[in-house]
Amino acid sequence: MFENRRRVLRSIGAFAATGIAGASGNAFATLSSPDAKGQKLAAKTNPQFVALDKPTAFKDITSYNNFYEFGTDKGDPAEHAGTLRPRPWKVSVEGAIKNPKVYDIDDLLKLAPLEERVYRLRCVEGWSMVIPWIGVSLSELIKRAEPTGNAKYVQFITLADPSQMPGLSTPILEWPYSEGLRMDEAMNPLTLLTVGLYGEVLPNQNGAPVRVIVPWKYGFKSAKSLVKIRFVEKQPPTSWNLYAPSEYGFYSNVNPGVDHPRWSQATERRIGEDGFFAPKRKTLMFNGYGDQVASLYQGMDLKKNF
Ligand code: MTE
Repeated sequence: MFENRRRVLRSIGAFAATGIAGASGNAFATLSSPDAKGQKLAAKTNPQFVALDKPTAFKDITSYNNFYEFGTDKGDPAEHAGTLRPRPWKVSVEGAIKNPKVYDIDDLLKLAPLEERVYRLRCVEGWSMVIPWIGVSLSELIKRAEPTGNAKYVQFITLADPSQMPGLSTPILEWPYSEGLRMDEAMNPLTLLTVGLYGEVLPNQNGAPVRVIVPWKYGFKSAKSLVKIRFVEKQPPTSWNLYAPSEYGFYSNVNPGVDHPRWSQATERRIGEDGFFAPKRKTLMFNGYGDQVASLYQGMDLKKNF
């Protein structure tokens, strides 16, 4: 059904209602139940942001995850993230801005009409997926926050509650999980404040109730289960960079020309295509989003700023 809908949308090229969550035309979701798990989320497909690759199966997207707060195996988040409580949930928007605000998650959902966007996500480990996300451009939130001249970077801070996240007892990464973007990266229309996928609220293992998706960067930049969005003057510390600075740079742009010190980044395995004869795919510069983002890095040495 999802495939058919996409094909129709592509052929008419229209900004049409998705239909998955009912054709009410109401893009604002009201999630009254304390446990929003599996709840449908209405959104309109934004055809400007629809990758033409076949979307990865829902089952794969929700069972092959990285979310170290729930364990390091790919199956751990699906198995253990049932303890995460995505309602009630607050997100503090703070720092070098004129309008600091603590959003209730349900108000965050009403920031702007929700859009469905099909993005490729490429993990630094060498696998990728194609996911129909639901969210709004992070720029919608940033505009309302009114950053001051001191806001040069945005830091994303994740929940770190041991009562909900069993993986926190293992000190693999520095908790809370932290990531960051330069201000112009955060303002790029591609950067998605994400609240759902495949027509429903984000499953816990995918970062409920709200995460960021930065499709031209390795997956670890796309921090899950956000509780703070902080505007800062200096480049913020990030969990993976603290863990291994020579392996995980701040920029982490998908770049087949810069190998990870321990493996090549030239190709990737698309999850769901892993039969014996399935060829690996060539990894694309900026994960294929160069037209939209290459200008952000003009004049920068991307081997040094990896
Ligand atoms: N966010 C948090 N809070 N904790 C994590 O361990 N892992 C990152 C990123 N966001 C991670 C996180 C990594 S390494 C990847 S590849 C993506 O989430 C995976 O997102 P997915 O499981 O929805 O595919």
